Amino acid sequence: MPRVVYVSPDGGQTAVEAEGGTSAMRAALIGGVRGILADCGGEAACATCHVYVDEAWTEKVGEPGLDEDDMLDVTACERGANSRLSCQIDVTDDLDGLVLNLPEEQ
Ligand code: FES
Repeated sequence: MPRVVYVSPDGGQTAVEAEGGTSAMRAALIGGVRGILADCGGEAACATCHVYVDEAWTEKVGEPGLDEDDMLDVTACERGANSRLSCQIDVTDDLDGLVLNLPEEQ
């Protein structure tokens, strides 16, 4: 199973083994990662699953879709070039080792 590492603002890391194809948001919730709220349940409608993709992974993770792009404009913490909604990132084997940085607030 692909492994995702979530890094909190204080530098603490939580690694989660994700069921292949599950979203990075759901993997975080299942893994007990704090800092992902996911109020809308994964519909790209709340922006409370905001993450900053680690620089080494931005190309592999890819760009946000149009709806996601709109929601990224209303995140609680400032949007960065590497911002994504974790509910829109499917964790495939290609993303094994993915590192996602969590914002200060959602
Ligand atoms: Fe609501 Fe991702 S869970 S936008």
